[in-house]
Amino acid sequence: MTTELANTLNKSLSIGNRSIAKRLVLAPMAFVGNIAFRELVEKFGGYGLLFTEMCSAKRIPNENRYTSSYFRWRDSELSYLVCQIFGADPALMAAAAQRIETEGFFGIDINFGCSDVSICRQNCGAAILNAPDLAAKIVAAVRIGISYRDVCDFPPYSPSSTGLNFTPTRVAKSTRAVEMIIIMMPSADSWPHKPSSAKRKI
Ligand SMILES: Cc1cc2nc3c(=O)[nH]c(=O)nc-3n(C[C@H](O)[C@H](O)[C@H](O)COP(=O)(O)O)c2cc1C
Repeated sequence: MTTELANTLNKSLSIGNRSIAKRLVLAPMAFVGNIAFRELVEKFGGYGLLFTEMCSAKRIPNENRYTSSYFRWRDSELSYLVCQIFGADPALMAAAAQRIETEGFFGIDINFGCSDVSICRQNCGAAILNAPDLAAKIVAAVRIGISYRDVCDFPPYSPSSTGLNFTPTRVAKSTRAVEMIIIMMPSADSWPHKPSSAKRKI
């Protein structure tokens, strides 16, 4: 890594009313970014934030953190761990967000970017960008009762497999209620992904 890049990544960054010590962030990755993977990443150091796998909002309120395969963490990572949730029901998203804040996570990432067919079929993830009003309702519901700023991610292009049609204007419309956005840029060859071990029901 060049010194210039290292210097940039090692600078602190303000996110809403919070700050992180470094700018390198682990991407949220379903079936990959689990508790064991994050512990491995931690050993390399250099990051400012880690993300959980994508978690189903409807399951989070009753999920047992000690037996869950995805809603699971080490207490020591909570202060720099963001929990990513997906769902289409504003009330369920809000209930999940409340638990995430109560548990003490650094933040919540609302997934509006997953173009995987199994997620879009449930009208979640990237499919929500076809319903900007629903996206705004979800963000508004999640905000009520929690002190976090909102973090959302979006695909910058329209993956042909979904048949969805994104334009910057549509995305801007759907984010009108969002204070802060992290854009995760999926590359054409890595997303949508088809994990071979995708046995878990999500
Ligand atoms: C195996 C895999 C799983 C992913 N799962 C998620 C996910 O659950 N939520 C999400 O927002 N993005 C997910 N992504 C997208 C990544 O977070 C990231 O934005 C994307 O891979 C772009 O980075 P890259 O071009 O370096 O691959 C996933 C990507 C991969 C490769």
